[in-house]
Amino acid sequence: MVHKAVIPAAGLGTRFLPSTKAQPKEMLPIIDTPTIQYVVQEAIDSGIDDILIISGKGKRAIEDHFDRNFELEMSLVNKEDKRLYNEVRRISDMANIHFIRQKELNGLGDAIYYARLHTGDEPFAVLLGDTIIDSVIPVTQQLIDVYEQYRQTIIGVEQVPEDKVDRYGIVGGKRMSDRILEISELIEKPSVEESPSNLAIAGRYILTPEIFKAIEKTKRGKNNEVQLTDAMRILLRRESIFSCTIEGKRYDIGNKLDYLKTIVEFALKRKEFADPFSTFLKETVNTLPN
Ligand code: G1P
Repeated sequence: MVHKAVIPAAGLGTRFLPSTKAQPKEMLPIIDTPTIQYVVQEAIDSGIDDILIISGKGKRAIEDHFDRNFELEMSLVNKEDKRLYNEVRRISDMANIHFIRQKELNGLGDAIYYARLHTGDEPFAVLLGDTIIDSVIPVTQQLIDVYEQYRQTIIGVEQVPEDKVDRYGIVGGKRMSDRILEISELIEKPSVEESPSNLAIAGRYILTPEIFKAIEKTKRGKNNEVQLTDAMRILLRRESIFSCTIEGKRYDIGNKLDYLKTIVEFALKRKEFADPFSTFLKETVNTLPN
């Protein structure tokens, strides 16, 4: 049973400066809900009951968000705003959430290494804190189902256009079924020429405790950081790793254009905005030059 999850959320968010100077990028709102709340919700909907968030300098707002806020609760009680009160309480009761601070920003592999004492000898899910995936079956649940079958490291992947392979970790391997690949190659942010396929690591993983020994052996790679992808490549010498093509739509909050598109799509899905916002969008489109 996979019941623990690790959410790395220590990155600087330089692409969103100055907005992320004093605020974590994981708290950037999709209308009224911070990105990381969607990520935590996906974990919970996948049966996870214990979450470790890898935070760092300037990330206190994430801790406060999942903590109780009595003053706010009392003020909502006094205003008799039951709906907002229930929502605020629900967030602080979502799961057992723990925090650990990554002291230096040495990359995703290094961030995951901070989880080793917490996860112990259990497999665990990893959900990147700046990626939301909208799906019928929560993506972490999809990967847990594959893990139950193979009992090995599982990486969630999706196809990306060729000109975007250099933004992602890319996998290659032997096809086991429609969605499953037995991985033989893993490379972080390759050029088009180096890339073994166009299957990109989508920010969701099921890892086993063996990853920690592999991280210890991992030298700094792309961007002079300890890359999780490189650690998994070391692991591949000793055991099998599988990828599973995710079913769902991935929203990468780490880049501005995708962030903007995410807000538009999520607004159109909201009952209270669907009509007025689509009217506004249509009117706006009509004013655009051809
Ligand atoms: C990280 C991983 C990469 C993965 C990507 C997904 O990169 O290192 O393998 O494809 O997340 O978003 P980052 O976006 O942190 O540069």
